[in-house]
Amino acid sequence: MKEFQLGNSVSEVLEMLPEARIKKVKLGNREIGIVRVGDRIFGFNSFCPHRGASLIQGSIHAGEVICPLHHYRFELQGGRSKAGDCPDLETFPCTLSEDGLKIILP
Ligand code: FES
Repeated sequence: MKEFQLGNSVSEVLEMLPEARIKKVKLGNREIGIVRVGDRIFGFNSFCPHRGASLIQGSIHAGEVICPLHHYRFELQGGRSKAGDCPDLETFPCTLSEDGLKIILP
């Protein structure tokens, strides 16, 4: 398990993450997507578990990320697949504190 930090304060993180806009972040050898919805921040694998499309180009709606290719939907909280026969999306815990955003990768 590896812990990463983005930004050094709440305001810096909020500035980095405009509401519902997916940001691509490279952490170690992984590329992940991060998105803020209200005061919650979610991290997920940037590649769709269906056929590997980039979820960075996806959209956010009602607590889900929607893949741009076949429009499968995945819950931001926990990654549960909301469509057909597709594995769940890998998600990563994100915690915002006065020191910035902590992201934990396996
Ligand atoms: S590649 Fe994402 S839904 Fe098919």
